[in-house]
Amino acid sequence: MPAIKANKIEKYYQSADGEMVHALKDVTLEIKDGEFVAIVGPSGCGKSTFLEIVAGLLSADQGEVFLDDKKITGTSREIGVVFQDASLFPWRTIKRNIAFGMETAKVPKEEQEERLAHYIEMMNLKGFEHKFPSQLSGGMRQRAGIARTLVMNPQAILMDEPFSAVDHLTRCTLQDELIKLREAEKKTILFVTHDINEAVYLADRVILFSPRP
Ligand SMILES: Nc1ncnc2c1ncn2[C@@H]1O[C@H](COP(=O)(O)OP(=O)(O)OP(=O)(O)O)[C@@H](O)[C@H]1O
Ligand SMILES: [Mg+2]
Repeated sequence: MPAIKANKIEKYYQSADGEMVHALKDVTLEIKDGEFVAIVGPSGCGKSTFLEIVAGLLSADQGEVFLDDKKITGTSREIGVVFQDASLFPWRTIKRNIAFGMETAKVPKEEQEERLAHYIEMMNLKGFEHKFPSQLSGGMRQRAGIARTLVMNPQAILMDEPFSAVDHLTRCTLQDELIKLREAEKKTILFVTHDINEAVYLADRVILFSPRP
């Protein structure tokens, strides 16, 4: 059974000048449980739109998306999302940022501490947990954003150009960390990038979205 199944997705936007933009046209795809799929395509081909629909942040005009057998109708704890910019709360320390979702979900304190210790170590943030986001580099902030998603233990992780705002060397490090993470926890991953090399390096399968006509 596929973990994620998108069936004949159509999405239109109304642009500022009143014209209709057909952002997604008949998109059907399946991602197997534990599979790492990358979507690649030029700017404007609908990658982010598709990811947001799978995340439940945006609704499709036609078609549907399923996680296992459940139709996705809104955001859920089963699906974690990582964007290009980690958007951490500036007034919370790194640790408290990572803990945010668990606090909201009322995860018992002891379990929170255990999960925090695990992901802070895994994402190489040890020693920085009591710092504020402004005291960290862009790459470290992105690691904290990834830890904040992982700590909720989602079944699937959706990533939209998560490494494109960091320098080349940091990007290479983060890519390798993602590969290690993948070996440690076999999550279903949907990774959006415009970089074909990154897609081929990371993913089990690469799906090409063609440019809009
Ligand atoms: N809120 C919106 N209102 C109107 N048009 C939009 C909106 N969001 C996206 N679009 C349009 O829909 C199309 C697909 O956009 P989308 O952001 O999904 O592309 P993308 O593949 O993620 O591009 P990029 O690589 O630049 O991030 C584009 O033509 C874009 O201009
Ligand atoms: Mg995009």
